[in-house]
Amino acid sequence: MRPFDRISCPDPRLAEAIEYLSQHPGKQLRCQLTQACAELVAREPLPAATMAGEAIELLHTYSLVHDDLPAMDDDDLRRGQPTLHCAFDEATAILAGDGLQAAAFQRLVEIDALSAEQRLEILRVVSIAVGFQGMVGGQALDLAAEHHGVSVTALKGIHDLKTGALISAAAEVGAICADASSAQRDALVRFAKAIGLAFQVTDDVLDVTGDSVSLGKTAGKDERAEKSTYVSTLGLDGAQQEADRLLDEALEALSDFGEDAEPLRDLARKMVHRQT
Ligand code: IPE
Ligand code: IPE
Ligand code: MG
Ligand code: MG
Ligand code: MG
Repeated sequence: MRPFDRISCPDPRLAEAIEYLSQHPGKQLRCQLTQACAELVAREPLPAATMAGEAIELLHTYSLVHDDLPAMDDDDLRRGQPTLHCAFDEATAILAGDGLQAAAFQRLVEIDALSAEQRLEILRVVSIAVGFQGMVGGQALDLAAEHHGVSVTALKGIHDLKTGALISAAAEVGAICADASSAQRDALVRFAKAIGLAFQVTDDVLDVTGDSVSLGKTAGKDERAEKSTYVSTLGLDGAQQEADRLLDEALEALSDFGEDAEPLRDLARKMVHRQT
């Protein structure tokens, strides 16, 4: 997985910022999810799924660069290094995010091994996932939920959108790359919706239980910023139990795949029981 390869920019400072991001690409779990879902259906690794997964990683990285901006979560540490706006400046971070988003869609359009219908369907799924009805809408709701409590139902809606939508799209794109049947695709989306929510619940837990060095981002930030999280809403034990319940729900959605889904089940467990 090399999501940042082949990105070039005529502005040296912006090019340097992309190089800076490429040195710490993160866990790349979304790309792994796209690959694993495609492989489960196709019964072989699909290079097209890797390319699509890399494009999704660019979108995810863009979301983090903007998430860290002073106007949003105002964070100074990401993936073990100073956030992009701290290492460079805010304009560079805004433009890097904008450019990564465009580069991701270009990547998706240019996957030669996929049919025009597959590419169009991928563009439809991914553009919804990162747009107003997806990640961006969720990020707006997340900011609006600072400094006051919200119901678990409202919080689930926020987490589904800000984080779950792209994770669910990553799985669905894998299914599309592998020409999955509608039953297979539905099962993978059901799986990924549960795992996407569990992933953000775990992120909320790790903000409390982790330390900045191992997380590579500032621990304890949510409480200081008075964020509405699963921990602030359900307590630490309640949040951990909810993550495990969602993991079970996700695994249940894979039951029809039998033994073949074991690699995807392992990835799901890794996403929920991670330490970073
Ligand atoms: C962090 O995502 C932000 C959330 C959506 C919870 P990851 O934990 O996948 O971050 P990286 O990509 O590994 O840095
Ligand atoms: C991020 O959620 C969700 C995104 C869409 C980027 P957080 O704000 O909790 O992510 P971290 O904790 O900063 O990685
Ligand atoms: Mg945030
Ligand atoms: Mg944040
Ligand atoms: Mg967080």
